[in-house]
Amino acid sequence: MNPEDIIENIKKYVYKQFEHEESGHDKWHIERVRKLAVSIAENEQANVFIVELSAILHDLIDEKVKETIKLDILEVDKLLKMHLVHKDDRDKILKIIESISFRKNISQNELSIEGKIVQDADRLDAIGAIGIARTFSFAGSRGHIIYDPEKKNNQHAIQHFYDKLLKLKDLMNTETAKHLAEERHLFLEHYLQQFDLEWSTTEKEKE
Ligand code: ADP
Ligand code: NI
Repeated sequence: MNPEDIIENIKKYVYKQFEHEESGHDKWHIERVRKLAVSIAENEQANVFIVELSAILHDLIDEKVKETIKLDILEVDKLLKMHLVHKDDRDKILKIIESISFRKNISQNELSIEGKIVQDADRLDAIGAIGIARTFSFAGSRGHIIYDPEKKNNQHAIQHFYDKLLKLKDLMNTETAKHLAEERHLFLEHYLQQFDLEWSTTEKEKE
C-alpha cells in the first residue's frame, strides 16, 4: 500500500470512531492537529508520514477518551500492521502516541523530532480562539462554571488559562510552533483582559 492510501484508510477509521466523542477530542480536533503537525513537519524537515499518522492516532489511547473508542497500544499496533505499516515505523509511531497520551514526563531529548512536532500541534490547538472554545466546552462537560472571583470554586474555566494555557507558549519544542504560538498566546491575553474588564464593569454596575 502506498503511504497516501495508508493514511487515508487509517484516517477514515479513526475519524469515524471520533465522530461522537464529547470530551473535546472530536474528529475536528484530530483533523486540526493533523494539519498543523504536517505543516510544522514540512517546515522542520521531519518525516511527514510518521508525523501525520501519529497525529491521527494521538488521542486514541488517551484515558479521557470514551471507553467505546479507546484502544490499547497493542490494538493500535494491530491497526497499523493491518495497513501494512513497517515495524520500524510502527515502533516510532507507538512511542510518540504513548508519550503524548500518558503525559509521561519524558525529557525533551527522549522524544523524536516527529514526536515533538505532534506535541506542539496538540498544544497549539489548546490555545488561541479555538483553545478558548475547547476550554469552555470541556468545563461545561464537567459541570464547571465560567469563573468564580471568590475562588470558592477553583474548578472554573478561567482558572485553566492560568494553570495551563498561558504556559504552553514557552513549552513549544520547534521554532515553527513557537512562532505560531505567539499570536494565539496574545489572543489569550487580550481575551483575559477583556474578560476582566467586562467582569469589573458589571461589578461596578451592581454597586
Ligand atoms: P489534548 O489531550 O487534546 O491536548 P486534553 O485532553 O488535555 O487535551 O484536554 C482537552 C481540552 O480541554 C484542551 O483544550 C484543554 O485545554 C481543555 N481542558 C483540560 N482540562 C481542563 C480544565 N480543567 N478546565 C477547562 N478546560 C480543560
Ligand atoms: Ni489531542
